[in-house]
Amino acid sequence: MNTELLRNPIQTRERVTDARQSGFSVGLVPTMGDLHAGHGALIDCARRHDDFLAVSIFVNPIQFNVASDYEKYTRNLDRDFEFCRQRGVDLVFAPDARDMYPVPLKTHVDVSGLTDLLCGEFRPGHFRGVATVVAKLFHILPADRAYFGEKDAQQLAVIRRMVTDLNFPVKIVGVPTVRDSDGLALSSRNQRLSEAERAVAPRLFKALCAVRDHVAAGCKDAAQAKEAGLAVLAQESMIRVEYFEIVGADDIERREVIDGPVLAAAAIWLGETRLIDNVSVHG
Ligand code: PAJ
Repeated sequence: MNTELLRNPIQTRERVTDARQSGFSVGLVPTMGDLHAGHGALIDCARRHDDFLAVSIFVNPIQFNVASDYEKYTRNLDRDFEFCRQRGVDLVFAPDARDMYPVPLKTHVDVSGLTDLLCGEFRPGHFRGVATVVAKLFHILPADRAYFGEKDAQQLAVIRRMVTDLNFPVKIVGVPTVRDSDGLALSSRNQRLSEAERAVAPRLFKALCAVRDHVAAGCKDAAQAKEAGLAVLAQESMIRVEYFEIVGADDIERREVIDGPVLAAAAIWLGETRLIDNVSVHG
């Protein structure tokens, strides 16, 4: 089977429309490349549900609030293309920034409320950039289903809400987080960690699990559950906590009492590297 590489949005739309007209269901996995087994899980999930599988690879400039972060993002299309080919992807869409943004944008998608906390609070403009590029991708690659990782739970909630609010005819599928054997969620950023930083990084997941365990043991008080998690991070002086929150899984609003499905979500810094993770908790 052949994997096709397309860079032009108009050709891509034609190709996907052809596939749909031939009776194939279309699955889309949006990515920024530097693919790893986390992306692989999304691709495998899409492969199980859909006949025609498209992966987009685009390092989206408008979702980076720090320019150097955009510049140093790893780009390796040959390697990523091979990754997709081996997993039976039909189409890789890898546009240039000037094809995605031929003129400066005057139109953006802002999902309010859901972006006030967590990453939204610390990365101003980030979710506006994400929602806007995903809206564009949904038009360029009109898919039946699009696959997103639960690793980025706030992003998943934002996209779901955008799709509901703006009537995008696509079903959003969330895929569980893929982790290393020590619990660290796979991320392109993990490769930037020094050996010492990598050794303490799994503490992030352990702290989130401590919240889950606390709630499972009967605690319904979010402040107390949060303290249990923060205590795990406080044991390691290399860790700087950016946020640690317990929020509603759909509205991403703070909860004081845990009496339904919530997320324990955190961002930490290890040296120059920022890591995020979350676990779902049922009160
Ligand atoms: P990127 O960071 O490349 O991630 C692409 C998709 O892979 C996202 O849906 C993300 O949640 C998922 N993913 C990453 N690591 C994962 C892991 N360990 N387990 C499961 N899924 C994982 O997220 C983006 O790109 C961009 O914001 C994008 C949506 C493409 C818009 O530019």
